[in-house]
Amino acid sequence: MATMESLIGLVNRIQRACTALGDYGGGDQAFSSLWDALPSVAVVGGQSSGKSSVLESIVGRDFLPRGSGIVTRRPLVLQLQKTENGQDYAEFGHIPRRRFTDFALVRKEIEDETDRITGKSKQISPVPIHLSIYSQNVVNLTLIDLPGLTKVAIDGQPESIVQDIENMVRTYVEKPNCIILAISPANQDIATSDAIKLAKEVDASGERTFGVLTKLDLMDKGTNAIDVLEGRAYRLQHPWVGVVNRSQADINKNVDMIIARRKEREYFASSPDYGHLASKMGSEYLAKLLSRHLESVIRARIPSITSLINKSIDELESELDHLGRPIAVDAGAQLYTILELCRAFDRIFKEHLDGGRPGGDR
Ligand code: GDP
Ligand code: NA
Ligand code: MG
Repeated sequence: MATMESLIGLVNRIQRACTALGDYGGGDQAFSSLWDALPSVAVVGGQSSGKSSVLESIVGRDFLPRGSGIVTRRPLVLQLQKTENGQDYAEFGHIPRRRFTDFALVRKEIEDETDRITGKSKQISPVPIHLSIYSQNVVNLTLIDLPGLTKVAIDGQPESIVQDIENMVRTYVEKPNCIILAISPANQDIATSDAIKLAKEVDASGERTFGVLTKLDLMDKGTNAIDVLEGRAYRLQHPWVGVVNRSQADINKNVDMIIARRKEREYFASSPDYGHLASKMGSEYLAKLLSRHLESVIRARIPSITSLINKSIDELESELDHLGRPIAVDAGAQLYTILELCRAFDRIFKEHLDGGRPGGDR
């Protein structure tokens, strides 16, 4: 178990190192295919469907920009790393040596960094922002927040923005190693869900799609979402998870995330409609479900990941040979880091095989 956790941790670190290398202009094919081989979870849905709220609930922290309109205008690659002790902190890929312990400043930095690339023009950009959060209260996961799908351009945005956003989201969700977290609000007909529409196109069998139903508390009185949650309205391979995030009024009142989680638990436990599903609902359950799934995907992909890693080790070694003197000190350091991480992965994986019973530990 500890070994599996360290494998996920290593996968996270390799992803971070590959990214950092990419930022120095050294991101060649070997590293981007390595990145693509490592699974991650992309959050997709229509505007205001509750994507940012779900992410914040999973993290248990209030740190994302919010507001009406298109708030998320660049992909946010969010790596959660479980720590054993110490204070929670965050680090950005573009400011590697600064530790953020004030999460209000994390929000501000996401906003500033978004504007830095897109200008204040409300344009979107496919260049991701990388953020790592270290905490005792998270599960090891990589989540990607994406701009919300929309049907009409607003605020003087070009008409093409509708298609541009869809294309950007599609480049993530069409990758076979992408796990799709498809967010749909319960107060809209599931048949009109942008998330489900896109997920259906790129993952027809539903094997890598997790359906999340938000805003259960906002449904019309006398209606419920049992047909969706029990998989009858739209069938997926994985069970649907219902969540209740903070309302706008809660956010305005600064309701604490931990209190919000407790209220969510109480909502399900005391609900006449969903009481029988309570143990499989809510954002904490969702986080565990995703982490467990990610673990099993990594376990299944270990042979292909190791063969890619071994290929990368060879390439890294010859690249370092040829470089002689690294072009940029930082790029050279990143190459060494990836090399070391790849070797560590290879080693831990072999120990895992030798030490583990067939079928793995549980
Ligand atoms: P995004 O645009 O998809 O990222 O959506 P947000 O997470 O920013 O949420 C949009 C609005 O819906 C915010 O005002 C949230 O407070 C509200 N909201 C999201 N989920 C829920 C929910 O489960 N219940 C209630 N009552 N409000 C929610
Ligand atoms: Na929003
Ligand atoms: Mg958002």
